[in-house]
Amino acid sequence: MRKDLLIGLDIGTTKVCALIAKIKENKFEIIGIGKSFSQGLSKGMIVNIEEASRGIEKAVKEAEFDAGFKISQVWASIAGNHIQGMDNSGFFNISSEDKIITHKDVEKALENASRLTLPPNREIIHTLPQEFTIDGQSGIKRPIGMSGTYLGVKVYIVTASSTYRQNIENSVKNGGYGVEGVVLQSLASGMATLSPEEEDMGVALIDIGGGTTDVAIFLEDGIRFSCALGVGGNHITNDIAVGLHTTRTNAEKIKIKYGSTSMSPSCEGEAIEIKGVMGRRTYKVKGEDLIKIIDMRVGEIFELVDRELEKSGYKDLITSGIVLTGGCSLLRGIKEKAEEKIGLPVRIGYPRLKNLDTLNSPIYATAVGLILYGMKERKKVSSKNTLEVRIKEWIKDFF
Ligand SMILES: Nc1ncnc2c1ncn2[C@@H]1O[C@H](COP(=O)(O)OP(=O)(O)OP(=O)(O)O)[C@@H](O)[C@H]1O
Ligand SMILES: [Mg+2]
Repeated sequence: MRKDLLIGLDIGTTKVCALIAKIKENKFEIIGIGKSFSQGLSKGMIVNIEEASRGIEKAVKEAEFDAGFKISQVWASIAGNHIQGMDNSGFFNISSEDKIITHKDVEKALENASRLTLPPNREIIHTLPQEFTIDGQSGIKRPIGMSGTYLGVKVYIVTASSTYRQNIENSVKNGGYGVEGVVLQSLASGMATLSPEEEDMGVALIDIGGGTTDVAIFLEDGIRFSCALGVGGNHITNDIAVGLHTTRTNAEKIKIKYGSTSMSPSCEGEAIEIKGVMGRRTYKVKGEDLIKIIDMRVGEIFELVDRELEKSGYKDLITSGIVLTGGCSLLRGIKEKAEEKIGLPVRIGYPRLKNLDTLNSPIYATAVGLILYGMKERKKVSSKNTLEVRIKEWIKDFF
């Protein structure tokens, strides 16, 4: 696989989306897009490897065809309520003579912060720095190049069930590819939709997909809290199917065409035609009846989210407000409903991509974020490698 290619693979409950990006320095260009219906997932987690592999293979093959390149490794999303987050800290004594903090020192401090005794079948997927301290001085964001003897770091550690993480790897492998890394869905969505100001001031990202609602709080450039709720747009669709006695396929169409929450009653007064199941008679319902069903579920989702925000202890620090993303953020009136239930200003998060209208939807926030995350990680490795090469060269020169 060409070194300048990077693949984001969002394995969602309703769709799999593969994006192939060509990287040039700090910029990227999307050169391949592939999408397939997702099967074999429930509430963000793979429950049927064979079905999941098929969706993955189809989406990646389509993206490869679109890009005109073959790929071998992907950055895959991970979600589900098996994910847990916790704070931790680590330290490292700077031993170099000049006491200037290097990339390696930061890595050592992060490594020490990742030393945890985890229960069996759990593993760390991210160790995300929140802030550094140098000789007791706190609030440092970029310590490399500064002088000190004692480097401390506060981190947010994300852990996952090894079984579920392995299921992602197995499904991608069955589809014919390898995994370069897994990335927490809300972290990826956040990278694609949040502005640096928001991340600094305090913001809560809410990604409402088909099977999960993923929440993450960012403050002072670091992630402080995350959680995944096993509820999303599929539940709204199910409620419509049950409440209006129709199939899920039909309920999904009705939701997209007429769906709304009570705050923007676009279909109030309108009669909606409902097809009965298996040839049963077609009948009409009032728009208000549909709104009532949707409003109840959406209201409940935001009540659950609000409870999590309160529990996190960070709600008062979310000074910029909420960013809603994921497919469900396209539901009419959802922004107002979130504002009503959570009591904070809300905006809808679109991936920040220029000149690419196809991906200009909250549905693609995770996939675009995976590319951004992959770029950041590769840059870390390459800057480390460049430093190692430079040090080796200095040593060679010296002798
Ligand atoms: N215009 C729309 N109005 C209302 N809902 C929509 C609209 N477009 C998409 N959705 C809903 O968004 C959901 C899919 O969102 P998304 O693609 O973000 O989910 P996913 O990533 O597959 O799932 P998850 O992240 O939960 O595993 C579906 O429930 C779909 O019905
Ligand atoms: Mg998703």
